[in-house]
Order: sequence, then C-alpha cells, then structure tokens
Amino acid sequence: MNVLQGLDIDTALLQQILDALPVGIWIADPSGQLLANNSAGSRIWAGERWISPEDYGEYKAWWSSTGKLLETAEWGMSRAVATGEVSQNEMVDIECFDGSRKTILNSAMPIYDADGQIRACIAVNQEITDLKRVQDNLVLVRNQLAALSGAALSIQEQERKRLSMELHDEIGQTLSALKIVVETARRHCKNKTLADYMQQASEMADTLVSDVREIARRLRPPPLDDLGLVAALRWHLDRVARAAPLEVRFDAETLTQRLSSDLELGCFRIAQEAVSNVIRHAAASCLTVTLEKNNRHLTLCVRDDGCGFVPKSLFTELNHPLGLIGMRERAAMLGGELRVRSTPGQGAEVQAIFPLGG
Ligand SMILES: Nc1ncnc2c1ncn2[C@@H]1O[C@H](COP(=O)(O)OP(=O)(O)OP(=O)(O)O)[C@@H](O)[C@H]1O
Ligand SMILES: [Mg+2]
Repeated sequence: MNVLQGLDIDTALLQQILDALPVGIWIADPSGQLLANNSAGSRIWAGERWISPEDYGEYKAWWSSTGKLLETAEWGMSRAVATGEVSQNEMVDIECFDGSRKTILNSAMPIYDADGQIRACIAVNQEITDLKRVQDNLVLVRNQLAALSGAALSIQEQERKRLSMELHDEIGQTLSALKIVVETARRHCKNKTLADYMQQASEMADTLVSDVREIARRLRPPPLDDLGLVAALRWHLDRVARAAPLEVRFDAETLTQRLSSDLELGCFRIAQEAVSNVIRHAAASCLTVTLEKNNRHLTLCVRDDGCGFVPKSLFTELNHPLGLIGMRERAAMLGGELRVRSTPGQGAEVQAIFPLGG
C-alpha cells in the first residue's frame, strides 16, 4: 500500500517536508546532474553547486579514515549513477564553501522507475562534526592514558628492583650482623635471664632476616633473563603449590624458544597477578596455567575452578582495584589483549593473547 496516497503531495509540500529534515538531501538526475537539495544540505555545505559528476570535486572532501582526497568518481553519488551502488554512512571530512571544515556521514542510492531504469539518485549527508571531535578526544585521552600507565608500570618495575636491593643489601646485611652481635653477647653472658632474652632476640633476628629475604625476593623481577619465561613460571608455580592448598598444573610444551625480554616480563607479571588473584579470591582447588605458542600468537591462560565473579562490571567501576586493569594495560602495551571470562560459582579464566612479529 502506498502510505502517501491521499496526502495530495505537490512539489511545494515535498520541499517543505525535505526542508524539515535534519539531514542534508541532494537529488540528481540519472546522469548525476545535481538538481535539488533541502535547507540542511545547503546549511551543511554553506552553499551549493549545481554540477554533474565530472565536477563533483568542487565539493571538497577527504576520507576520514585515511585523510585521502575523494576523487570525483569516489563520491557515493558518482557510484550510484555509474553502477547503481548503494552506499551507507561513509565518513568524510569536508571543506564547505565558506572554508569551514566539517565531518559528515554520506549515503547515496539510485531510485528506480517501474521498468527498473534509474530515475534519480539521492545523497544524504548527516553532519557529525561534534561527535567526531568527542570521539577524537576520547581516542587521544585513551592513548595518553595508555602511555601514562606504561610509564607507571616501568617506574614500578624499577622501584621494586631498587627496594628489593636495598632490603637485601642494607637491611638484610645489618640484621645478619645484629644477629651475630646478639649471639656473641649471649655466649659471653653469665646472667641466665639476660641470656634467655638474648636467645629470644637472636631468634627474632633470624625470623626478620628470612622475612626480609622473602619480601625482597617477591619484589625482585623474576629470574627471567637467566631462566626464560617457562622456567621462571614453573619456578613461581612450584612455590605457589608449596604454599597454597591447591593442585597446580602447568603446560608450556609448545613454547620451545626464548621470546623478547619485554614480552617475557609482561607475560610473567600478568601470570603472577592472575595466579595471585586465584590464591586470594577464588577458593579454588585446581589452578591451571598454560602457555601456547603458534606462528602468530602467544597465549597465556590462567584458569581456576573457584568461586568465580562478574568481570564486566569491574572494568567500569571508577575506584576499581588495579590488578585486572594493570594486566589489561600490560597486554595492550605489548600489542595484545586481555580476556576475562568468569561466571559466579563456575571458576574464572584470564587469557592474555600477544601477537608475535613475523
Ligand atoms: N580468579 C578469581 N576468582 C574470583 N574472583 C576474582 C578472581 N580474580 C579476580 N577476582 C575478583 O575481581 C576483583 C578485582 O581483581 P583485581 O586483581 O583487579 O583486584 P584485587 O586483587 O582485589 O586487588 P589488587 O590486585 O589491586 O591488589 C577481586 O577483588 C575479586 O573480587
Ligand atoms: Mg589482584
């Protein structure tokens, strides 16, 4: 049914309808000669030119995605005229007739008569300059944030190294010396009560020395340079298995060569945080870590059979803890991505996928 029947639309009413639309409309004859437009069309372009396809270049535009100038034949209207192509929402930056710059989404299509011949072609321009500006700013801010968190992660790595060395070399050595002094004093002490106190002090110094060593060890970057990623992860997981009531499985059979040091460190730190999350939050009975390499990707997977959680909301909360965010940033810095899958009650899986150049 023709829904317009009975409206008695004459050209004046049709023009009024077109002028009421918020998008620019351009109408051409079958050869592409521009014949009419609406008010929004003239407003967007700050004018109009009644030209045919060979002169479409007067409407100056560049593809937003590449910045490349639109050739006359590349306009949607030219393609609609030449081949009957329907194009939709192609983003182009335009220079209007008053010299201002805007961004539009351009669509074009042929209109056929009852015999299937092209009767006219129309183009639709939707102006999205403000939206595009907001989007560009978001991309800029996102890139700045990524650079910032990259710098923060590398400062954190240096700071950990420095703290670890200071703890080990300064405090650790001084505590060891203190222990020797207290021990010597105890051996020479004739007073039984005092000697007992000294014995206690000596034992406390022992505990402190091993605590400080353990903290320094945890802060230190893993022994990746010497061991490589697979051996360093196995070493880390062995310690986890000894300390936590958890079955730990590790499979890295497909990874037989060394990787770049950035990738090895990033991958190790992600695994370390994901495993620490399993120990702290999952109440799991089994932890599986796999490293899988093919020609194009390295995939790290940390899976548990614990209590699970709802990952989606976490990335959108403003004061969210930093573990998952840090993992995601590390993966992004290496050109990769982080996927977190979990359902409450059904365990969790953290997957980091890194591209391998060449
Ligand atoms: N394997 C897991 N099983 C169950 N819950 C998890 C798991 N991993 C993460 N979570 C949940 O996701 C939350 C966010 O994890 P995230 O690592 O970002 O922070 P965190 O571990 O709480 O603190 P941070 O890592 O900053 O010390 C955790 O608090 C926990 O509720
Ligand atoms: Mg965490």
